[in-house]
Amino acid sequence: MSDRPIVVVGSLNMDIVLSVPRMPATGETIQARSVLHVPGGKGANQAVGLARLGARSVMIGAVGEDGYGRAILERMRSFGVETDAIRTVRDVPTGTAHILLTPEDNSIIIAAGANARVLPEDPARHARLLAQAKVVLAQLEIPEQTVLEAFRLARDAGARTILNPAPARPLPDELLRLTDILTPNETELALLSGRGIGTEEELERVVRDWQDAYGHTVLVTRGSKGCAYLEEGRLRTVAPLKVPVVDTTGAGDAFNAAVAYGLFREWPLAETVRFAVKASSLSVRKLGAQDGMPVLEEVLNA
Ligand code: RIB
Repeated sequence: MSDRPIVVVGSLNMDIVLSVPRMPATGETIQARSVLHVPGGKGANQAVGLARLGARSVMIGAVGEDGYGRAILERMRSFGVETDAIRTVRDVPTGTAHILLTPEDNSIIIAAGANARVLPEDPARHARLLAQAKVVLAQLEIPEQTVLEAFRLARDAGARTILNPAPARPLPDELLRLTDILTPNETELALLSGRGIGTEEELERVVRDWQDAYGHTVLVTRGSKGCAYLEEGRLRTVAPLKVPVVDTTGAGDAFNAAVAYGLFREWPLAETVRFAVKASSLSVRKLGAQDGMPVLEEVLNA
């Protein structure tokens, strides 16, 4: 495999995971079964996912000058992620994610902290790195202008771009036109497109219209249903593997990392989607977003 990097531009969080029997109702206090502090953040998880697949994974982002920031960086390095382009900022804390984990699912509230300080100057400072990259992968837990600048630099140098539009918000046309692959979940696609998605037919129409408008590929993640995309103009859903679920946090990040890996390897889209759905399925077997990221052989043999 070529030594060109896959660059992830995004967030790093300390995940504070409360295991609860169910979601509390408004105004209610419930008791957690346990609390765990584990490195996370969509950007960091995706960078770790790539390193676990064997890619040269380099991240641009920021942490605070605190214990959480140090622990996150140390963990990423232990997975093989290159962290030189991650800045330590002095006057804000490392980002945190407050996760309620029930036996069925999770809910997440993020406090951006240092992630809000990842500014357009950051990708600009690493323009040479972005010019070497074959694929650049970003999410929306950092300022949108930063992602825009990273994609401008990446595309100018001939790299392919993947945008995981999470958390979703309306996006400028320029950013969407600089994107090669968009990976929303169904809720995010409904918000981005401003259209209701209740049936398979509606989903197919929304994906087709969106692709026609922006000229990029849309891969819709559907949780326990897998991933939907257009193959020869028709909606196709690839179902996930059946594995015992411990923690779904980071399943979307495993998917995005694997899509970036497939794009890097120049695999056909159908093969990339199958690979990414498998990687995402395998990622839920362990507690914590990063520890569950599968290695290449696990995905290929699954
Ligand atoms: O995608 C999962 C991630 O979202 C968590 O690790 C948390 O940090 C939030 O950013």
